[in-house]
Amino acid sequence: MTVESVRPGASEAAALREPPLAGGGLPVLGHGWKLARDPLAFMSRLRDHGEVVRLRIGPKTVYAVTTPALTGAVALSPDYIIAGPLWESLQDLLGEEGVATANGPLHRRQRRTIQPAFKLEAIPAYGPIMAEEAYALVERWRSGEELDVTTESFHAAVRVSARCLMRGGYMDARAERICDDLATLFSGMYRRMVVPLGPLYKVPLPANREFNRALADLHVLVDEIVADRRAGGQKPDDLLTALLEAEDDNGEPIGEQEIHDQVIAILTPGSETVGATIMSLLLVLTEHPELGDKIRDEVENVVGDRPVAFEDVRKLTYTANVVTETLRLYPAVWILTRRAVAETELGGYRIPKGADLIYSPYAIQRDRRSYERTEEFDPDRWLPERARDVPKYAMSPFSVGNRKCPSDHFSMAELTLITAVVASAYRFEHVSGSDSRPRIGITLRPRRLMLRALPR
Ligand code: HEM
Repeated sequence: MTVESVRPGASEAAALREPPLAGGGLPVLGHGWKLARDPLAFMSRLRDHGEVVRLRIGPKTVYAVTTPALTGAVALSPDYIIAGPLWESLQDLLGEEGVATANGPLHRRQRRTIQPAFKLEAIPAYGPIMAEEAYALVERWRSGEELDVTTESFHAAVRVSARCLMRGGYMDARAERICDDLATLFSGMYRRMVVPLGPLYKVPLPANREFNRALADLHVLVDEIVADRRAGGQKPDDLLTALLEAEDDNGEPIGEQEIHDQVIAILTPGSETVGATIMSLLLVLTEHPELGDKIRDEVENVVGDRPVAFEDVRKLTYTANVVTETLRLYPAVWILTRRAVAETELGGYRIPKGADLIYSPYAIQRDRRSYERTEEFDPDRWLPERARDVPKYAMSPFSVGNRKCPSDHFSMAELTLITAVVASAYRFEHVSGSDSRPRIGITLRPRRLMLRALPR
């Protein structure tokens, strides 16, 4: 990981240019309305205006970064911290003391606490749970009833994260509540990010009341999970035990608030991103049935007649490439923000201290300058000899640098296993009411996927 600071001296700073202002802003809302109305198209067009461009979002100026190289530089530089509109909108949910929102020494200590649960050697132990949850989907879908894929996908994601990282039956009953709460919270937070109307979100309108109810319920749930674990007196070797036993830099146990924020900061991004990606994978399998056929063939060759097990995953290379290509075209984390802690230089432009930066993995990963036939779903672009041609940082769905997702290996294993199991068992077709257009919130996913699973 590079930790290179690019702070210009006084004379250099004077010579640096201000990034161009993107066209199309409105007097009060600035570019926020475009970001709210068609954000994927808006973010995808920004590179035509420059490598760094200024946007106006409400009263604020935000700097959009549009090239793979410069987004990589932002993610790797210590001059940009986790902050900015995305994180402000998430703070109500994630608190300030969890790993996803903390900065500096607190963040480093927290990463050290959680890292062992995600390291490569820890993942095989989660294999049986991942396989069990994948086959539970196959069992449930056997009835041939219409599937509400949003519910199915988010349940699977919550159950895998919760059962692997916070072992215990107490999760089963709570998975549904977590899913419902998160759905309400994530759509409300996106609105707060792109249309920052501040105090208006405190007015007791039905949408705001619903948001506050979901937020309060999630906090109660997390307190219940922690209390249950303590009451049970057990200390399985998992992430929750690591959090409950973590010490601060003085060797003192960490506070209750930090434990609470940590559980939320891990459960929330884990469930939301994986749930969204399972939905996108099922959409891909529905719209490209030939991919499912090839996955079934690969599973037959590698695994034979027995059930797919975690140990098979590294040999299921075609299936993994389908997952990777899904993450390229439908990155669950489609937008990221940072804040400059000092005046810096980026691509020859001056970025003032305190500036908010924004960039879109979606726009970067679909850019025709980085990918031939970029709109085409082509898993073979991830064959080793072809993947070499992808420009650096043009494919970073888990980000890079010190904020890189700790769960990249965990998630790839989980998604590859689930895809192998369900695609070997079923083909899929849309049923009436299915709406596969993108639903854009803090994460990206199909809007309302309603499918029927057809046994092979
Ligand atoms: C498809 C699945 C996933 C994707 C695409 C994804 C993507 C990301 C990305 C892009 C970031 C970096 C955010 C930034 O740079 O500002 C991130 C951070 C994070 N992710 Fe994931 N993630 C996934 C699954 C998970 C899972 C399953 C968990 C936990 C169970 C998880 C926990 C976290 C945490 C705790 C952070 C904050 C890390 C830090 O700030 O140090 N993610 N994720």
